[in-house]
Amino acid sequence: MEKSNSFTLGENNLNEIINQIIKLISSGNIVILLEGDLGAGKTRLTQEIIKTYDSSAVVQSPTFVIERIYEIKHKKTVNYIHHLDLYRLRYYSEFIDLGFKDLIYQKGHIFIIEWPKLIEDKLKNYIKIKIENVNNGHERKYTIIKK
Ligand SMILES: Nc1ncnc2c1ncn2[C@@H]1O[C@H](COP(=O)(O)OP(=O)(O)OP(=O)(O)O)[C@@H](O)[C@H]1O
Ligand SMILES: [Mg+2]
Repeated sequence: MEKSNSFTLGENNLNEIINQIIKLISSGNIVILLEGDLGAGKTRLTQEIIKTYDSSAVVQSPTFVIERIYEIKHKKTVNYIHHLDLYRLRYYSEFIDLGFKDLIYQKGHIFIIEWPKLIEDKLKNYIKIKIENVNNGHERKYTIIKK
C-alpha cells in the first residue's frame, strides 16, 4: 500500500472525490474497489463516476445481476465501465466462471467493484475506496488507498 487521502462529503457534493478518481483512472488505474457496510454509499459513488463519462447513463445497483456494463462512446481511454457487486458470490471460482478475470485489466475496461473481499487478495493493482458513515449518517468519509 502506498498513498492514502480522504474526504468527508455529502451525497450531492461528491465533486472532490470524483475529480480525484477520474485523475486516477486517466493515469491508468482501472480497477476500483469500494469497501463499506450495507448502505455505505458504494452505488451512489459509482453513479457519479459513471455519469462523469456519460451524463445520460441510468445507473442502478447491480446487486441482483452481479454486473452492469456501461458503454462509453466517444472516449479514447475509457470504453466500458463494468459495475460489479460481488455480495452474492461465495467462491473466487465463481468470479472466474463468470468470465471477469479475462476482462479485468484490459485496456479501455474500467472495473468498479462493490463487496470485493473475495477477490482482493488475488489482484495486483487497484484503488480501494473505503466509505464510512460520519455525522450521524449525513455525510460519508471516503478514504482512497492505492495498491
Ligand atoms: N456521501 C453521502 N452522504 C450522505 N448520504 C449518502 C452518501 N452517499 C450515499 N448516501 C445514502 O446512503 C444510502 C445508501 O447508498 P448506496 O445504495 O449507494 O449504498 P451501498 O453501499 O451501495 O449499499 P449496498 O451495500 O446495499 O450495496 C442512500 O440512501 C444514499 O442516498
Ligand atoms: Mg450498492
